[in-house]
Amino acid sequence: MTNNLKIFIGNWKMYGDISSLKILRRINTFLNTKKSKMRPRVIMCIPSILLYPFSKYLKNSKVSFGAQNCHEIDSYGPFTGSISAKMLKKAGAKYVIIGHSENRIEGDDQKKINKKIKSAQRQNLSVIYCIGENLTQQKKKLTFKILKKQINSIFLHKINLNKLIIAYEPTWAIGSGNIPRAEELKKIFSFIKTIIKNKIKSKKIPKILYGGSVNNSNIVSFLAIKDCDGFLIGGASLSSKKFIDIIKKCYK
Ligand code: 13P
Repeated sequence: MTNNLKIFIGNWKMYGDISSLKILRRINTFLNTKKSKMRPRVIMCIPSILLYPFSKYLKNSKVSFGAQNCHEIDSYGPFTGSISAKMLKKAGAKYVIIGHSENRIEGDDQKKINKKIKSAQRQNLSVIYCIGENLTQQKKKLTFKILKKQINSIFLHKINLNKLIIAYEPTWAIGSGNIPRAEELKKIFSFIKTIIKNKIKSKKIPKILYGGSVNNSNIVSFLAIKDCDGFLIGGASLSSKKFIDIIKKCYK
């Protein structure tokens, strides 16, 4: 890979506690000592209860913080157990993942997801919008149809593209160790970029990432996908060694 900026987003899901700060400290140290030709952007989407302490401990660090979901109401309200975009922002988040398949399975339909994206952007958070097909849809060859619908929704709802990162995460690749074939991914990324380019006049289109079983062994197989601007990493983001290894291999 050349020295293009790549985005590496970690998604800790329901893992981590206060002792996990050391993971971020090590990643930050690496980012501060990395060779100058590397220009990775690192965002860690951590459990919301860790946002405030971690963003305080790692003030001015090279790691930016993100959350993993938010409520569709952006400020405050009588919603037991929920967290709003405003609260996440105040706790130190600059980003929030929305539409992750694990949340879609739990009931976040596209209508709710659109509301959540709007709500996050109203609070000036950048949204990491997850799209992708599940196994049944993949088997029925519905991938492109599903993706088109999920992307068109951005335009239908006038989502702010300047505060949007798209993450293509096929559900069947998440946590399974299975990854799409490079040829397939090339087609999918080019398809996503083409739909967006056809909808907007500006040359500046949102960054598009891949997510699903990315690790320090298979990362090189993704580097041939030229339209892929980075990665959304689950399990491997819980290990500073694996995460740093992934970054290093992208710049070899
Ligand atoms: P894994 O990297 O553990 O497969 O998780 C991917 C993911 O869901 C990131 O959002």
